[in-house]
Parts: sequence; structure tokens; C-alpha cells
Amino acid sequence: MTQASVRTLAVLTSGGDAPGMNMAVHTLSEHAERAHWQVLGVREGFQGLLRADFVPLHTQETVRYARYGGTFLGSSRLPEFGTFLPEFKNVLEKHHISHLAVIGGNGSFRAAARLSDVLPVAALPGTIDNDVVGSELSIGFDTAVNTGLSLLDGMRDSAESLPRLFALETLGGDTGFLAQAVAEAGGADLLLVPERVRAEDEIYTRLQEVKTERRYALIVASEGYPELIGVLERVSERLETRIRVSRAGHAQRGGRPSAGDRLLASRLATAAFGRLQKNQSGAALWQRGQAVTAPFDETTLHKPFATLEDRG
Ligand code: F6P
Repeated sequence: MTQASVRTLAVLTSGGDAPGMNMAVHTLSEHAERAHWQVLGVREGFQGLLRADFVPLHTQETVRYARYGGTFLGSSRLPEFGTFLPEFKNVLEKHHISHLAVIGGNGSFRAAARLSDVLPVAALPGTIDNDVVGSELSIGFDTAVNTGLSLLDGMRDSAESLPRLFALETLGGDTGFLAQAVAEAGGADLLLVPERVRAEDEIYTRLQEVKTERRYALIVASEGYPELIGVLERVSERLETRIRVSRAGHAQRGGRPSAGDRLLASRLATAAFGRLQKNQSGAALWQRGQAVTAPFDETTLHKPFATLEDRG
């Protein structure tokens, strides 16, 4: 086979790691290998791509990582991505990379879209925040919800024994999708998300009601809620009740990927590879219970946020 006829897929993970990313890398490798393509993993995301830091991938190796959280390829954030476009183009050409798959969040999707002028690029949603525009689910979200839920369940055990106010701060960046899912699945009494900032009086009234009924209350808050700790402290003082705040932190971003995340990763990767095989760029998205693909420009709509109350 001539150099030109060999297809080489480079795969990278970008931004915050998410459980299930490894499964996506594995599934992409599997499809590519079956189609007799070469597969290169890129170490540490777009920063690694700039350095041409590649590692050949083989499915007998990638399958071993599929069950672990994080990303075995490593990741990075590169907000100044746009300033390096000529360098990216050089690396891709020099290393005869014919196709690229990017697994990450909204920033990574934008970067992927910009490289699609150079070669066919597919982007897969991988972020625990579940805020990728156009996709109802992203890889890592289900696992992170379950991790948050087990923390909230534990807090309820304690709250039922020694009644107080408890708050769980989840990850989620400046969005509330993760906190909302944890709150709903765990039956929290109050949800605080940046998309719906509440007046302190409203928070006070809600907590007072719950506390009067059953002596404890569970709050779930996204880390992006403005001045979260100050708000909670002021309200707890007014209620004359101690509040204990637990931060899920980065422990919520790791852990073994749930079955749901592994299946999601596998299906999105299959859809993404199908698009690449047709030499088309675009996003693999989860919509109405299935993996679909779409050109990048159709994924730029604002992702709507429905609070528990909004859904009635
Ligand atoms: O990847 C998304 C996310 O985990 C957010 O939930 C969180 O706010 C952010 O990344 C943390 O980023 P970093 O690990 O770079 O501090």
C-alpha cells in the first residue's frame, strides 16, 4: 500500500477528563483497526498534537483501559487553540494523519470544527458537565451523577440520625445539569444552579418549611452558583441551624465508568467512525435515545436548561 492510500486516524481527549473516554478511544480504535486503518493516540490532547506526541493504538491494549475512569491518553486545556492553526496543519500533514477524532466538551468541539477545514474531523461529547450543545447526554455524566448520588445518600443517612442542614456542592463548571440530576435522583429539598439564582429570602423560606416538617434539609448546589458558601452561611444563621457543606470536587470526575457511560461511548464512537469513513466532518450526538451525527454548524444552538420546578 502506498503512503497516500493508508488511512491514519488520530484520536485525542481534550479538556476535563470524563469516565468513559477510554471506552470511546477503544471503540474508535476497534472500528479503525477492522477497516485496516492505522490508529494513533495523541498524548495530552491538543497540546500533545502540537508537539506531535503520538502513540500507536491497538485494540488488545485499548480494551484494557476501557473499564477505567480518566483518560489513559491524558488531556489538556488549550484556550489559545486558534493561534496555533498553522502549526496544527503542519503536524497533521507531516505525520500523514488523514482523519481526527476529538473527545471533549464545547471548547473541544469548537477546536475540532476549526480543524475540519484541514481534514475530516469527528467530535464526541465527553464531559461530566453534560453541557455539550445538541447532545442530550455526554460521556461521563452518568457516572458523575451516580458518584454525586452516593454522596447525597450518605448525607441523608447522617441527616436522618442527627438532623441539620446539609449541602452538597457538585462539579459542573458554570452549568447546573450535573447538580440538577443529582438533586432530582436523590430527592433533594433545594437545588441551587447558576442558571436560576434565587433570592436569599426564597432559600430561607424553603429551608424553613422543610426544617419545620422533618428537622433536616438536603441542598444540592452547583459549584458555579454565585457566592454559594456566603449565601448558605447567611441563611443558616437566620434559621439558627448549623449547616454542613460537602464538596464533591474532582472525586466526582473520576471513578469507573458506569455501564451507561460505556454504552454511550461505544455508540457515539461507532456513529463518529461511520461519519469519518465517509470522509465527512461533524459531531456525534445523543438525541432521542440514539447516536446521530450532524455537521458542526448544526450543533451551535444554546442548550436549554429546565429546572425541576420548570418541569413541574
Ligand atoms: O470538565 C468539566 C469540569 O470538571 C467542571 O465540572 C469543573 O468546573 C472543571 O472541569 C474543573 O476544571 P479543572 O480540573 O481544570 O480545574
